[in-house]
Amino acid sequence: MRVLLIGSGGREHALAVGLAADPAVEELIAAPGNPGIASVATLRDVKATDPEAVAALAVEVGADLVVVGPEAPLVAGVADAVRAKGIACFGPSAAAAQLEGSKAFAKDVMAAAGVPTGRAYTCTTPDEVGAALKEFGPPYVVKNDGLAAGKGVVVTDSLPVATQHAGECGRVVIEEFLDGPEVSLFVVTDGTAAVPLMPAQDFKRVADGDEGPNTGGMGAYAPLPWAPADLVERVMTETVGPTLAEMRKRGTPFAGLLYVGLALTSGGPKVIEFNARFGDPETQVVLALLASPLGELLNAAATGTLADFPPLRWHEGAAVTVVVAGHNYPGTPRTGDVIEGGERPGVIHAGTARRADGALVSSGGRVLSVTATGSDLAAARAAAYDLVAGVKLEGSHHRTDIALAAVEGRIKL
Ligand code: AMP
Ligand code: GLY
Repeated sequence: MRVLLIGSGGREHALAVGLAADPAVEELIAAPGNPGIASVATLRDVKATDPEAVAALAVEVGADLVVVGPEAPLVAGVADAVRAKGIACFGPSAAAAQLEGSKAFAKDVMAAAGVPTGRAYTCTTPDEVGAALKEFGPPYVVKNDGLAAGKGVVVTDSLPVATQHAGECGRVVIEEFLDGPEVSLFVVTDGTAAVPLMPAQDFKRVADGDEGPNTGGMGAYAPLPWAPADLVERVMTETVGPTLAEMRKRGTPFAGLLYVGLALTSGGPKVIEFNARFGDPETQVVLALLASPLGELLNAAATGTLADFPPLRWHEGAAVTVVVAGHNYPGTPRTGDVIEGGERPGVIHAGTARRADGALVSSGGRVLSVTATGSDLAAARAAAYDLVAGVKLEGSHHRTDIALAAVEGRIKL
């Protein structure tokens, strides 16, 4: 099969590696891609958020399957435009992608489906904001309603900071604080059948010890040795099944990747957020451990035949990924810094570019992530940090504690 992959980040590089390794994928084309993706796919240029342009490219390259990586193209309707050309597409329709595109919509679906999640108010005026913040008390959770690349959420003990963020957002969701370790569960679905992948943990805050502002994600690991044995089954029954049923009932079935972000609270797993695509950087670790053919799996979801897909197979051991971020990320990052040691196996490119002289340079906030596997979490973690030590990027920063608490058995439920 000929696969066209849309996107240019670390998630897409990890997807490209997985797709290229599937014998059923005879040809892999990526657009717009990045220098890392170029090592496993043929690159084409496209504006990923332009549905007609992506659909036209899919026709031109003779794609059998289009895989859409990021949320913005999905929310813009890229999957709808591709399917309108009669080409299979892995990724939800614009209507279904509202599960990620609007926090208020997601809360409405969760309420209708009876999904466990934090209590929340959608607010548009300063008075509503003030009343909601007062009711919940600190720590305050204030979420921009729309897409914000992982940076629209502020969790703070400061009432002035919470109020100011709400004021900057317009429509906001103000939510009860959910306490407990966070889990990212990815579910591949054709709208009816649903196949969970291995749960992973992401590190959202920029600095060690979960300090500093939220980011798109600074590292991840899988599996989760501390997670309850029935976690996946419980989330599939309590959350995924009812959510998919509610989306079908609304006439907008969700087909693609449902990312369930959970807090494991004393009252059980509760949804923190839904995303309509693979998580970044969790994808790097989950796909490093997946032994089943990725292209065939995504194609089964895109063609409504997931119920017939054989049970997933996984490699033994564990995987850890560490994000190397550019100077000043998650603020406006400095770009154009030369990267050394960025083209070794395990280095996944996100914000990288090729300069005219051939040098690899930074071009975004999360520049790259290094991913390693090992026989257990401690071995994978050591291997990942060995790889990080070999990457040189002026002014860069990374967390030094990815997977550390899990290795040391310090995560308590
Ligand atoms: P979101 O974009 O909704 O995933 O939020 C980003 C991050 O903010 C999450 O991964 C959590 O670390 C934190 N967060 C969001 N909602 C809550 C909540 N209700 N309680 C505690 N932390 C939250
Ligand atoms: N790593 C979190 C996300 O992709 O949203």
